[in-house]
Amino acid sequence: MSNVVIITGASKGIGLATATRFQQQGFRVINISRSECPLEGARNIAADLAETDWKAKHGKSIIDALFDSQGDNEPDTENDKIEQLVLVHNAARMTKETVSDIDGDVLRSVLQLNVVAPAELNTLLLPHMSAGSSILYISSTLGRKAVANTHAYVISKHAVIGQMRATCQDLAGSMIHTAAVCPGFTETEMLSEHLGKNPEIYQHIVGNIAHRRLAQPSEIAETLWFCADNPVINGAIIDANLGQIET
Ligand SMILES: NC(=O)c1ccc[n+]([C@@H]2O[C@H](COP(=O)([O-])OP(=O)(O)OC[C@H]3O[C@@H](n4cnc5c(N)ncnc54)[C@H](OP(=O)(O)O)[C@@H]3O)[C@@H](O)[C@H]2O)c1
Repeated sequence: MSNVVIITGASKGIGLATATRFQQQGFRVINISRSECPLEGARNIAADLAETDWKAKHGKSIIDALFDSQGDNEPDTENDKIEQLVLVHNAARMTKETVSDIDGDVLRSVLQLNVVAPAELNTLLLPHMSAGSSILYISSTLGRKAVANTHAYVISKHAVIGQMRATCQDLAGSMIHTAAVCPGFTETEMLSEHLGKNPEIYQHIVGNIAHRRLAQPSEIAETLWFCADNPVINGAIIDANLGQIET
Protein backbone atom coordinates (compact mmCIF):
# COMPACT_ATOMS: atom_id res chain seq x y z
CA MET A 1 0.00 0.00 0.00
CA SER A 2 1.37 3.43 -0.85
CA ASN A 3 0.50 7.03 -0.08
CA VAL A 4 0.38 9.53 -2.94
CA VAL A 5 0.18 13.33 -3.10
CA ILE A 6 -0.93 15.01 -6.32
CA ILE A 7 -0.02 18.70 -6.35
CA THR A 8 -0.80 21.24 -9.03
CA GLY A 9 2.08 23.68 -9.47
CA ALA A 10 4.85 21.83 -7.62
CA SER A 11 7.53 23.17 -9.99
CA LYS A 12 8.33 26.02 -7.57
CA GLY A 13 7.19 28.05 -4.57
CA ILE A 14 4.64 26.67 -2.13
CA GLY A 15 3.89 23.67 -4.36
CA LEU A 16 7.54 22.57 -4.46
CA ALA A 17 7.89 23.00 -0.68
CA THR A 18 4.72 20.91 -0.25
CA ALA A 19 6.07 18.18 -2.52
CA THR A 20 9.27 18.13 -0.46
CA ARG A 21 7.35 17.92 2.86
CA PHE A 22 5.08 15.07 1.73
CA GLN A 23 8.00 13.16 0.23
CA GLN A 24 9.70 13.34 3.66
CA GLN A 25 6.60 11.57 4.99
CA GLY A 26 7.06 8.78 2.45
CA PHE A 27 4.46 9.99 -0.03
CA ARG A 28 4.93 9.44 -3.74
CA VAL A 29 4.71 12.86 -5.49
CA ILE A 30 2.88 13.59 -8.73
CA ASN A 31 3.21 17.16 -10.00
CA ILE A 32 0.93 18.77 -12.57
CA SER A 33 2.33 21.99 -14.07
CA ARG A 34 3.85 23.33 -17.26
CA SER A 35 7.46 22.95 -16.09
CA GLU A 36 8.97 20.11 -14.06
CA CYS A 37 9.17 19.67 -10.32
CA PRO A 38 12.91 19.51 -9.58
CA LEU A 39 12.45 17.08 -6.70
CA GLU A 40 14.15 13.74 -7.35
CA GLY A 41 11.61 10.96 -7.68
CA ALA A 42 8.67 13.25 -8.44
CA ARG A 43 6.53 12.25 -11.39
CA ASN A 44 5.62 15.10 -13.76
CA ILE A 45 2.54 15.61 -15.87
CA ALA A 46 3.27 18.55 -18.17
CA ALA A 47 -0.12 20.25 -18.40
CA ASP A 48 -1.38 23.80 -18.76
CA LEU A 49 -4.40 23.85 -16.43
CA ALA A 50 -5.55 27.19 -17.86
CA GLU A 51 -6.46 25.34 -21.07
CA THR A 52 -10.10 24.29 -21.06
CA ASP A 53 -9.25 20.92 -22.65
CA TRP A 54 -6.45 19.96 -20.21
CA LYS A 55 -8.44 17.04 -18.83
CA ALA A 56 -9.07 15.50 -22.25
CA LYS A 57 -5.37 15.88 -23.06
CA HIS A 58 -3.83 14.74 -19.77
CA GLY A 59 -6.48 12.99 -17.64
CA LYS A 60 -5.41 9.50 -18.69
CA SER A 61 -1.71 10.22 -18.02
CA ILE A 62 -2.59 11.37 -14.49
CA ILE A 63 -4.50 8.16 -13.74
CA ASP A 64 -1.73 6.08 -15.33
CA ALA A 65 0.87 7.82 -13.12
CA LEU A 66 -1.31 7.21 -10.07
CA PHE A 67 -1.27 3.47 -10.63
CA ASP A 68 2.33 3.13 -11.83
CA SER A 69 4.39 3.53 -8.66
CA GLN A 70 7.53 2.09 -10.29
CA GLY A 71 7.41 4.46 -13.27
CA ASP A 72 7.87 1.46 -15.60
CA ASN A 73 4.62 1.98 -17.56
CA GLU A 74 3.23 -1.19 -15.97
CA PRO A 75 0.08 -0.86 -13.85
CA ASP A 76 0.58 -1.71 -10.18
CA THR A 77 -0.48 -5.00 -8.67
CA GLU A 78 -3.06 -5.38 -5.88
CA ASN A 79 -0.23 -5.06 -3.29
CA ASP A 80 0.64 -1.56 -4.52
CA LYS A 81 -2.86 -0.15 -3.99
CA ILE A 82 -3.14 3.44 -2.76
CA GLU A 83 -3.95 3.84 0.91
CA GLN A 84 -4.12 7.62 1.19
CA LEU A 85 -4.39 10.06 -1.73
CA VAL A 86 -3.90 13.75 -0.94
CA LEU A 87 -4.86 16.25 -3.63
CA VAL A 88 -3.41 19.75 -3.24
CA HIS A 89 -4.94 22.45 -5.45
CA ASN A 90 -2.08 24.93 -5.46
CA ALA A 91 -1.46 26.26 -9.00
CA ALA A 92 -2.88 29.73 -9.53
CA ARG A 93 -2.38 32.93 -11.44
CA MET A 94 -2.57 36.49 -10.17
CA THR A 95 -3.34 39.29 -12.63
CA LYS A 96 -3.65 43.04 -12.16
CA GLU A 97 -6.90 44.75 -13.06
CA THR A 98 -9.81 46.60 -11.48
CA VAL A 99 -13.59 46.53 -11.66
CA SER A 100 -13.33 49.33 -14.28
CA ASP A 101 -11.04 47.59 -16.74
CA ILE A 102 -11.34 43.82 -16.22
CA ASP A 103 -11.35 41.85 -19.44
CA GLY A 104 -13.78 38.93 -19.66
CA ASP A 105 -11.19 36.65 -21.23
CA VAL A 106 -8.69 37.35 -18.42
CA LEU A 107 -11.33 36.62 -15.78
CA ARG A 108 -12.34 33.39 -17.57
CA SER A 109 -8.70 32.29 -17.78
CA VAL A 110 -7.99 33.03 -14.09
CA LEU A 111 -11.17 31.22 -13.04
CA GLN A 112 -10.28 28.26 -15.28
CA LEU A 113 -6.90 27.79 -13.56
CA ASN A 114 -7.81 28.79 -10.00
CA VAL A 115 -11.31 27.28 -9.70
CA VAL A 116 -12.49 25.20 -12.67
CA ALA A 117 -9.36 23.01 -13.02
CA PRO A 118 -9.53 22.02 -9.30
CA ALA A 119 -13.20 21.04 -9.80
CA GLU A 120 -12.28 18.97 -12.88
CA LEU A 121 -9.35 17.34 -11.07
CA ASN A 122 -11.68 16.41 -8.21
CA THR A 123 -14.06 14.59 -10.55
CA LEU A 124 -11.11 12.79 -12.17
CA LEU A 125 -9.58 11.62 -8.89
CA LEU A 126 -12.44 11.16 -6.43
CA PRO A 127 -13.25 7.67 -7.74
CA HIS A 128 -9.72 6.69 -6.62
CA MET A 129 -9.81 8.32 -3.17
CA SER A 130 -10.57 6.12 -0.20
CA ALA A 131 -11.28 6.92 3.46
CA GLY A 132 -8.39 8.89 4.99
CA SER A 133 -7.68 10.78 1.76
CA SER A 134 -8.01 14.56 1.55
CA ILE A 135 -8.57 17.48 -0.82
CA LEU A 136 -6.63 20.58 0.19
CA TYR A 137 -7.22 23.95 -1.43
CA ILE A 138 -4.92 26.96 -1.36
CA SER A 139 -6.93 30.12 -1.11
CA SER A 140 -5.34 33.33 0.20
CA THR A 141 -5.80 36.21 2.58
CA LEU A 142 -7.48 37.59 -0.54
CA GLY A 143 -10.07 34.83 -0.25
CA ARG A 144 -11.30 36.55 2.90
CA LYS A 145 -10.83 40.22 2.08
CA ALA A 146 -10.15 42.34 -1.00
CA VAL A 147 -7.48 44.82 -2.00
CA ALA A 148 -7.56 47.03 -5.08
CA ASN A 149 -6.14 46.04 -8.47
CA THR A 150 -6.33 42.22 -8.21
CA HIS A 151 -9.97 41.88 -9.25
CA ALA A 152 -9.92 38.44 -10.93
CA TYR A 153 -7.66 36.90 -8.27
CA VAL A 154 -9.83 38.14 -5.38
CA ILE A 155 -12.94 36.74 -7.06
CA SER A 156 -11.22 33.38 -7.67
CA LYS A 157 -9.81 33.03 -4.16
CA HIS A 158 -13.20 33.80 -2.57
CA ALA A 159 -14.64 31.12 -4.88
CA VAL A 160 -12.05 28.61 -3.66
CA ILE A 161 -13.35 29.02 -0.09
CA GLY A 162 -16.89 28.25 -1.28
CA GLN A 163 -15.54 25.33 -3.29
CA MET A 164 -13.89 23.85 -0.20
CA ARG A 165 -17.04 24.32 1.91
CA ALA A 166 -19.18 22.64 -0.78
CA THR A 167 -16.61 19.82 -1.04
CA CYS A 168 -16.98 19.16 2.69
CA GLN A 169 -20.75 18.98 2.46
CA ASP A 170 -20.80 16.82 -0.67
CA LEU A 171 -18.30 14.33 0.77
CA ALA A 172 -20.00 13.89 4.15
CA GLY A 173 -19.78 10.22 5.12
CA SER A 174 -16.93 9.45 2.70
CA MET A 175 -14.25 9.98 5.38
CA ILE A 176 -12.39 12.16 2.89
CA HIS A 177 -11.59 15.49 4.52
CA THR A 178 -10.94 18.94 3.10
CA ALA A 179 -9.56 22.33 4.11
CA ALA A 180 -8.59 25.66 2.60
CA VAL A 181 -5.26 27.12 3.65
CA CYS A 182 -5.04 30.90 3.25
CA PRO A 183 -1.39 31.99 3.04
CA GLY A 184 -0.44 35.56 3.72
CA PHE A 185 2.54 37.20 1.99
CA THR A 186 4.86 34.28 1.22
CA GLU A 187 8.33 34.58 -0.31
CA THR A 188 7.81 33.11 -3.80
CA GLU A 189 8.08 34.17 -7.44
CA MET A 190 4.38 35.00 -7.52
CA LEU A 191 4.85 37.57 -4.79
CA SER A 192 8.01 39.11 -6.22
CA GLU A 193 6.42 39.33 -9.69
CA HIS A 194 3.38 41.03 -8.22
CA LEU A 195 5.20 43.50 -5.98
CA GLY A 196 8.28 44.28 -8.08
CA LYS A 197 11.63 45.12 -6.52
CA ASN A 198 10.87 48.34 -4.60
CA PRO A 199 12.25 47.84 -1.04
CA GLU A 200 9.81 50.44 0.32
CA ILE A 201 6.86 48.29 -0.74
CA TYR A 202 8.39 45.31 1.08
CA GLN A 203 8.99 47.40 4.21
CA HIS A 204 5.39 48.55 4.14
CA ILE A 205 4.11 44.97 3.79
CA VAL A 206 6.35 43.55 6.49
CA GLY A 207 5.30 46.41 8.77
CA ASN A 208 1.73 45.08 8.55
CA ILE A 209 2.74 41.54 9.55
CA ALA A 210 2.83 40.89 13.30
CA HIS A 211 6.01 38.78 13.00
CA ARG A 212 7.67 41.42 10.77
CA ARG A 213 8.69 38.98 8.02
CA LEU A 214 7.30 37.15 4.99
CA ALA A 215 6.12 33.56 5.42
CA GLN A 216 8.32 30.86 3.92
CA PRO A 217 6.91 28.27 1.49
CA SER A 218 8.04 25.54 3.91
CA GLU A 219 5.74 27.00 6.60
CA ILE A 220 2.73 26.79 4.30
CA ALA A 221 3.79 23.25 3.35
CA GLU A 222 3.90 22.30 7.04
CA THR A 223 0.38 23.67 7.49
CA LEU A 224 -0.82 21.60 4.52
CA TRP A 225 0.81 18.49 5.96
CA PHE A 226 -0.95 19.13 9.28
CA CYS A 227 -4.30 19.41 7.47
CA ALA A 228 -3.71 16.20 5.52
CA ASP A 229 -2.65 14.31 8.64
CA ASN A 230 -5.52 15.48 10.86
CA PRO A 231 -9.04 14.67 9.62
CA VAL A 232 -10.48 16.73 12.46
CA ILE A 233 -9.56 19.66 10.20
CA ASN A 234 -12.53 19.23 7.83
CA GLY A 235 -14.38 22.11 6.18
CA ALA A 236 -11.91 24.47 7.88
CA ILE A 237 -10.36 27.70 6.64
CA ILE A 238 -6.83 28.00 8.02
CA ASP A 239 -5.05 31.37 7.95
CA ALA A 240 -1.28 30.98 7.63
CA ASN A 241 -0.03 34.54 7.62
CA LEU A 242 2.16 35.26 10.70
CA GLY A 243 -0.52 37.58 12.04
CA GLN A 244 -1.91 40.52 10.12
CA ILE A 245 -2.00 43.91 11.75
CA GLU A 246 -5.63 45.00 11.86
CA THR A 247 -6.21 48.50 10.57
N1 LIG B 1 3.09 33.78 -2.50
C1 LIG B 1 2.14 34.38 -1.82
O1 LIG B 1 2.34 35.43 -1.17
C2 LIG B 1 0.75 33.76 -1.76
C3 LIG B 1 -0.19 34.35 -0.90
C4 LIG B 1 -1.47 33.81 -0.82
C5 LIG B 1 -1.79 32.71 -1.60
N2 LIG B 1 -0.88 32.17 -2.44
C6 LIG B 1 -1.29 31.01 -3.24
O2 LIG B 1 -0.37 29.96 -3.08
C7 LIG B 1 -0.37 29.15 -4.25
C8 LIG B 1 1.06 28.98 -4.75
O3 LIG B 1 1.58 30.25 -5.05
P1 LIG B 1 3.15 30.55 -5.13
O4 LIG B 1 3.36 31.85 -4.50
O5 LIG B 1 3.94 29.36 -4.72
O6 LIG B 1 3.27 30.78 -6.72
P2 LIG B 1 4.48 30.50 -7.75
O7 LIG B 1 5.78 30.44 -7.07
O8 LIG B 1 4.26 31.48 -8.85
O9 LIG B 1 4.10 29.03 -8.28
C9 LIG B 1 2.91 28.84 -8.98
C10 LIG B 1 2.83 27.41 -9.44
O10 LIG B 1 1.63 27.26 -10.24
C11 LIG B 1 1.97 26.66 -11.48
N3 LIG B 1 1.13 27.17 -12.56
C12 LIG B 1 0.93 28.47 -12.89
N4 LIG B 1 0.17 28.54 -13.99
C13 LIG B 1 -0.12 27.26 -14.35
C14 LIG B 1 -0.86 26.69 -15.41
N5 LIG B 1 -1.44 27.46 -16.34
N6 LIG B 1 -0.96 25.35 -15.48
C15 LIG B 1 -0.36 24.57 -14.55
N7 LIG B 1 0.36 25.05 -13.53
C16 LIG B 1 0.49 26.39 -13.44
C17 LIG B 1 3.42 27.05 -11.72
O11 LIG B 1 4.05 26.06 -12.54
P3 LIG B 1 4.48 26.28 -14.06
O12 LIG B 1 4.82 27.72 -14.23
O13 LIG B 1 5.61 25.33 -14.21
O14 LIG B 1 3.28 25.86 -14.85
C18 LIG B 1 4.01 27.01 -10.31
O15 LIG B 1 4.44 25.71 -9.99
C19 LIG B 1 -1.31 29.85 -5.24
O16 LIG B 1 -2.58 29.26 -5.17
C20 LIG B 1 -1.35 31.27 -4.73
O17 LIG B 1 -2.53 31.93 -5.11
C21 LIG B 1 0.39 32.67 -2.54
